[in-house]
Amino acid sequence: MYKIMFVCLGNICRSPMAELLLRDMVEKAGREKDFLIASSATSGENVFNGVGAPVYGPIRDLLEKKGVSCVGKRAQMLTAKHGDEFDLFLCMDESNVRNARRILGEKNADKCKKLLSYAGEKGDVADPWFTRDFNAAYEDIKRGLEGLLQSLQ
Ligand code: 4NP
Repeated sequence: MYKIMFVCLGNICRSPMAELLLRDMVEKAGREKDFLIASSATSGENVFNGVGAPVYGPIRDLLEKKGVSCVGKRAQMLTAKHGDEFDLFLCMDESNVRNARRILGEKNADKCKKLLSYAGEKGDVADPWFTRDFNAAYEDIKRGLEGLLQSLQ
C-alpha cells in the first residue's frame, strides 16, 4: 500500500486539493485499496481549539465543478507521529519541505519531496491563497499527480 500525505502551509487550499484529486483519480482507476491518502498543514493557522477549518471556498467551488466533493475534509496539522504512518510527504513548495523535515525529523527527511518533482519539474505549486490563481494551482497539482500515479504503476 502507498501511504501518501500531501503537505502545504494551511491545509485549506493546495494539499486538500491534491488529497481529494488523487483519491478521485485512484477511485476511477479502481485502485483505492492500494492507497492511504491524507493532507496536512505545517502551520496551525486553520486549526482552532483542535477543530480544523473546511476547504477554502474558491477551491471547493473549483473541485465541485470537476465533480470532486470536499465534504468532510477539515484542516489538520502535520505531526511527528505522521512520520511513522506515511511513506511519502508530498509538499507544495520549498518552505513546506523545510518545515515538514523540521516537524518529522532527520530520519524522515528523504520521505519529504516536492509534488512537482513527479512531473519532472523543479518549481513550486504557488500558493493561491496569496496569488488568487486557483486554476494555476489546479493545473500544477494535476500534472504532479499524473506523474506520481505513473511512477506508482
Ligand atoms: P495553503 O494556502 O497552504 O495552500 O492551504 C494557505 C491558506 C491559508 C493560509 C496560508 C496558506 N493562512 O495563513 O491562513
